[in-house]
Amino acid sequence: MVQELKGNIRVFCRVRPVLPSEVSSDENLWAEIEYPDNLDHKEIVLSSASENAMGIERKDEWQFSFDRVFEPNSTQAEVFEEISQLAQSCTDGYNVCVFAYGQTGSGKSFTMEGGSTEVTTGMIPRAVEQVFQVAEELKSKGWEYRMEGQMLEIYNETINDLLGKGEFDKKKHDIKHDLKTGRTTVTDVAVVPLNSPSQVRSLLAFAQSRRTVAATLMNERSSRSHSVFTLRIYGENKLTGESCDGSLNLVDLAGSERLEKSGAGNDKDRLRETQNINKSLSALGDVIAALGEKGEGKGDKHIPYRNSKLTYLLQNSLSGNSKTLMVLNLSPLASHLNESLCSLRFATKVNNTTIGTAKKQNRLANSS
Ligand SMILES: Nc1ncnc2c1ncn2[C@@H]1O[C@H](COP(=O)(O)OP(=O)(O)OP(=O)(O)O)[C@@H](O)[C@H]1O
Ligand SMILES: [Mg+2]
Repeated sequence: MVQELKGNIRVFCRVRPVLPSEVSSDENLWAEIEYPDNLDHKEIVLSSASENAMGIERKDEWQFSFDRVFEPNSTQAEVFEEISQLAQSCTDGYNVCVFAYGQTGSGKSFTMEGGSTEVTTGMIPRAVEQVFQVAEELKSKGWEYRMEGQMLEIYNETINDLLGKGEFDKKKHDIKHDLKTGRTTVTDVAVVPLNSPSQVRSLLAFAQSRRTVAATLMNERSSRSHSVFTLRIYGENKLTGESCDGSLNLVDLAGSERLEKSGAGNDKDRLRETQNINKSLSALGDVIAALGEKGEGKGDKHIPYRNSKLTYLLQNSLSGNSKTLMVLNLSPLASHLNESLCSLRFATKVNNTTIGTAKKQNRLANSS
């Protein structure tokens, strides 16, 4: 209900804990972050005290609010609880997109992929498990589902197949949209039939190992590329004659930090990477903003999907009739305060967007 009123884009904010390796006796290590809203958990306040040249202390405070703010001690299960409804709506025929946005080291991969224990399992495996469970439950109502998955990496505006068998970086992959069915395909990539959550886990591990191999060729490449896991689900109901076609896209975005921080200054490859990341992240922001204007009644508004591979790939899942969630990941460190503020401003722009009402993609078997 709330989702309908607000439109179909939501933003969560998650602050990661200080890591054991970061703990020190320096009490200025932590940024001053408060969570004043104990009831709805929607607010976050950052502050910083500084002294000017005259020795006069000044305190700056920045307040933001989102659909949900998760404090450092929140668990993967708690975050997933808020995402599960959205994830499972792909079984009803919705196109769903979940993005993790934030600077390097802010917890995007931890949130999306997570660790190897049950407690640390991330959103991707949890969502997959949920979809399988719902599909199983709907069998009793006559639904039969078929699922397939792919996992891609977008690095320097080039697509790589993380589930492919061939050599990395060698094949050229093009994005194709079928206007009639609203389906997006990428040429020459592995699309794997999905039949159990455990099989999906091994696929994810395989994708991870391919990424790691590529990463040794190019230092820390994984955090400099976007990864997009797509689950497509087709359902047919023999009892009612209905069918549906939905998708779930789970995206671990490249680090959002600005040029100066990444030390890209004199390194040409690093510079190019950073420019490509900035370009695609701002393209994402622009697409969402354009959808917002369109939602406000500017029906013929042009949506600039083609400005980046990321937005072009997700075109059909990033439109007025899909469901989108952005999880903004933040570092708790004082040294990252400025970067956190940039992220919070980007997310606020996204959060203030209303992009129409999500539509299911289902139809009766005999209607055209
Ligand atoms: N909520 C959390 N609880 C415990 N540890 C966390 C949490 N979030 C992140 N971490 C840890 O913090 C470190 C950095 O997190 P992670 O690798 O997820 O960052 P990232 O945003 O994916 O960075 P990059 O852009 O470089 O890929 C990792 O060691 C991760 O295990
Ligand atoms: Mg990562």
